[in-house]
Amino acid sequence: MINFDENTITQAVLERHADCPDPRLRTIMTSLIKHLHAFARDVQLTEEEWATGIAVLTEAGRITDDKRQEFILLSDTLGLSMLVIAMNHAKPQGCTESTVLGPFYVPDSPACENGADIANGASGVPCFVRGSVRSLDGSPVPNAEIHVWQADDHGFYDVQYANLPAPQGRGVIRSRSDGSFNFRSVLAEDYPVPDDGPVGALMKALGRHSWRPAHLHFIVKAPGFDTLVTHVFRKDSDYLETDAVFGVRSSLIADWVLHREGRAPDGQHFTSPFYTLDYDFVINPV
Ligand code: BEZ
Ligand code: FE
Repeated sequence: MINFDENTITQAVLERHADCPDPRLRTIMTSLIKHLHAFARDVQLTEEEWATGIAVLTEAGRITDDKRQEFILLSDTLGLSMLVIAMNHAKPQGCTESTVLGPFYVPDSPACENGADIANGASGVPCFVRGSVRSLDGSPVPNAEIHVWQADDHGFYDVQYANLPAPQGRGVIRSRSDGSFNFRSVLAEDYPVPDDGPVGALMKALGRHSWRPAHLHFIVKAPGFDTLVTHVFRKDSDYLETDAVFGVRSSLIADWVLHREGRAPDGQHFTSPFYTLDYDFVINPV
C-alpha cells in the first residue's frame, strides 16, 4: 500500500506487524503505536515539536553510560517506573511496599557484618539503623540478604564521585537467626536527582523541582520470598509530597530519632548529635 494520509497511516503500521511471531511483542507494539499516534493527533504535534522530542532522546542516549542512565531517570520522573512497580508488585496487606530501584544500586556491594559502619568514610551525621526481616505471618526470616545504599550529606552516592578507593554508604548485611540486623551509617538527607542533563532541562521547563525526600535504599532477598526493592523515607523531609520520582508510600515513612549526645547503640559515648532509625521489613512468601 502507498498514499498513506493522517487517517490511514496508523492502520497501515499495525497491519505491517500482523505476522510478528511473538504474540506479546505484537500486543505491546500494537498498543504503543495506537497510543503514540493518538498522542500526536491529540496535541496536533508540529514538526518542530517532534524534532525537540527527538533531540531530548538523542541527548539522553549521548550522556547515558555505565554510571548514568538518563532513560531510567526519564521513566522515573514521568511516573512510568512507579506505575510499572505498582502494577507488578501489589502485595498483601501487611507486607512492606515496593518503590523505585533508582540508578545508584551496585550489585556487587561489600558484604558487612551486623554492626558494621557501612558509611566507610561517607560524610554525614552518624546514624545507627536497626531493624528486622519478618514473613507475613510474623515469623523471623533469618539469613536474609539486606542490601542498603544511600547518599552522603552532599547528596551524592559513592558512584557519583570519581576515583573513590572503596565503596561508601553501601553494603550487604544478613539478618540474624531472630531476623534482626543493624548497622551504622550517616543520616540520609534530601537530594536532587541528576538534573544537569535533558531530563533536568525538561523538569525545569515543566516548572518542577528535582528533589527527592531523604531516604535509605534497601533490597531484601531471601529464598522463598518475593525480593523487596524499597526505600525508607525520613518523616521530616519537605519533599515527601512532591518526590521527583513519585516513589513515596506512607508505610515507608519513618522517624529518624535525634540524640543530642549520649550513649549510642554501639556503646560509644557521643558528645555530638547522632540519629537512630528502627524499621521492620515484612516480606511476602511466594
Ligand atoms: C535514587 O533514589 O537514588 C534515585 C531514584 C530515581 C532517580 C534518581 C535517583
Ligand atoms: Fe536515592
